[in-house]
Amino acid sequence: MNLRQRPRRNRSSEAWRSMIRENALAVTDLIAPLFVREGKMQRTAIASMPGQFRLSVDELVKEARELHQLGIKAIALFPAIDEKKKTADAREAWNEENLNFRAARALKEALPEMLLMGDIALDPYSSDGHDGLVDACSGKILNDETVEALVKQSLASARAGFDMLGPSDMMDGRVQAIRHALDQQGFEQTLIMSYTAKYASAFYGPFRDALESAPKKGDKKTYQMDPANGREALREAALDAAEGADILMVKPGLPYLDVVYRLRQKSTLPIAAYHVSGEYAMIKAAAERGWIDGEKVMMESLLAFKRAGADIILTYFAKEAARLLNR
Ligand code: PBG
Repeated sequence: MNLRQRPRRNRSSEAWRSMIRENALAVTDLIAPLFVREGKMQRTAIASMPGQFRLSVDELVKEARELHQLGIKAIALFPAIDEKKKTADAREAWNEENLNFRAARALKEALPEMLLMGDIALDPYSSDGHDGLVDACSGKILNDETVEALVKQSLASARAGFDMLGPSDMMDGRVQAIRHALDQQGFEQTLIMSYTAKYASAFYGPFRDALESAPKKGDKKTYQMDPANGREALREAALDAAEGADILMVKPGLPYLDVVYRLRQKSTLPIAAYHVSGEYAMIKAAAERGWIDGEKVMMESLLAFKRAGADIILTYFAKEAARLLNR
């Protein structure tokens, strides 16, 4: 054939491939989500997330040290709260002595350089299992009352030492309210990574198992976004940016790479993607059965986030991927 263009020439050896490679994954792109529980010397396996554990605070500190040695700069903390501490008003969320804040203080003391991201939402503390407060009569999720609670949780989180807050609740106006309160209290250096486009997704199943935080009634469709919508993510992104978010996040990850890409095109803010529990579980399950090569699928998935334009990836694979990248 008389071909002027032969794209395969550029792929003909690993040397060429590595030279023309457009994207690369780095350990510093990764944030490791970790689950914390009460007790001492406890590592409770999470059945639907092989390789992930609910860690007591002492074990959590050890795990964070290991991650830090691997070059990971940030972890995101999710507490498994005792059922008896869950109430309808979720007041445990801003109790200065709660598990989340005790863990944060211990981590900051042991490992001050590790960036700590705190989840802002009521579901781990709510007897209803919703991110927002539920109106007892109508069962509706109350927006403005929830934002007030989230502000209390945010201020207590900043006081406990969290470097970055991740409002994962999807209430309207929460970024602005949290930013304002943080600034007023002298926390102008605390970052907000907003869950900007968080979808009402079935991919969160294993995470809700890990925290026993599934909604007792109904679903999250009146606050989390409809999986059918892409354009609406741009509306949320414009609002979060205007309200003062430092980083915009898309969640779940791989099924929503188009949303990552759209936000990347429209915003100058850093973009994060959350490779969620169900995505992790699917890869682990198929690999356990020998149906896929788990390591290769993991690395290909993480690279896909970079190609779509994500700067930051929250992933339960952080440790495994860091080990491979450091090899
Ligand atoms: C709740 C929250 C969820 C996740 C992070 N924060 C679950 C939900 O919205 O029901 C999911 C994370 C994952 O699946 O890995 N505020």
